[in-house]
Amino acid sequence: MHISSDSTELLVQRREAMGLTQEDLARRTGLSVRMISDLERGRTRKPHPRSLQLLTTALELDPSDMARLASGRAPDGDPAAVPGPPGKPVAQVVVPQQIPMAARHFAGRDRELRSLTALLEHQGRHAGLAVIDGPLGVGKTALAVRWAHQHADRFPDGQLYVNLRGSTPARLGPDEAIADFLDSLGVQPDQVPAGLPARSALLRSLLAGKRMLLVLDDAQSAEQVSPLLPGAAGCLTLVTSRRKLVSLVAHHGAHPVSLDVLSFQDARASLEVLLGHSRVVAEEEATAELIKICRRSPLALSTAGAHAALHPSMRITTLVAQLPVQPGPHLPGVELF
Ligand SMILES: Nc1ncnc2c1ncn2[C@@H]1O[C@H](COP(=O)(O)OP(=O)(O)OP(=O)(O)O)[C@@H](O)[C@H]1O
Ligand SMILES: [Mg+2]
Repeated sequence: MHISSDSTELLVQRREAMGLTQEDLARRTGLSVRMISDLERGRTRKPHPRSLQLLTTALELDPSDMARLASGRAPDGDPAAVPGPPGKPVAQVVVPQQIPMAARHFAGRDRELRSLTALLEHQGRHAGLAVIDGPLGVGKTALAVRWAHQHADRFPDGQLYVNLRGSTPARLGPDEAIADFLDSLGVQPDQVPAGLPARSALLRSLLAGKRMLLVLDDAQSAEQVSPLLPGAAGCLTLVTSRRKLVSLVAHHGAHPVSLDVLSFQDARASLEVLLGHSRVVAEEEATAELIKICRRSPLALSTAGAHAALHPSMRITTLVAQLPVQPGPHLPGVELF
């Protein structure tokens, strides 16, 4: 892709008409001052499509101007300024759809799902933000994923997901997480700026004016997620964490959702999906005992349910007899089998 002298003039005229210096435009776009200066002087003949998109957004250009910048075509159709092989798309528009698969045996959480949905209605001029907290295996990720799938159509520009691994020693730094998002949004590795503030600014520039959902899973702290938060309305972010991220609520007005273990009915409904209706109905008492031993923890129930599903001829009574009655002070689950 080339940029014509006509397009460079358009950039300068528009920037000046908006009363912006090159430095102001650099701040708005996350691009370097040098890159903007080179573009305006026609020194950069092949700007990256993403840079052009950033400039188009920051300079509030309309789609026809964007097309002119992207094609390098002069307004009168000057053939000398038309580059590239005919018919080849100049830029690939990527709509990321990164939400992981939802669990088939998900049950309950109606109130929590509704409270997240209410955020869509009350978003107004601000970016929506919710933080889901609760102990290990209580279903934070499952809730975020479930809601994200249910409402994906409200985010036509895409849904981004990152596992921040905040509860593990291999925690992802915010700069790494942003680099992943930028990559997903089509930014070439050599266009990703160094340093967290510049990366964060570029991400916000790319998200401005978009309707995107971000799921920031397993966050360790507010510091880990703050640089990833979109600034403008239209985007919504779901954060999950084992900790209560108080400062996200205090400083960013995040909507808090605290999860507890499942109700008996929801635990039973989930087992019914995993084990099959007939098996549960045939052994109601053993099922109730299983739910009790698992302390209604989604993780424990899923683990036990998966074990039973893998042994279709095993009676639930037999499974219950194999389980430790006192699994320990933590929520039972991973170490049951
Ligand atoms: N509402 C639910 N109904 C049935 N199963 C559920 C529900 N929520 C979660 N689960 C199951 O419980 C297990 C743990 O869920 P999930 O990974 O969402 O927990 P988590 O709170 O995110 O845990 P962690 O703190 O480790 O991130 C998964 O197997 C999931 O499918
Ligand atoms: Mg999780």
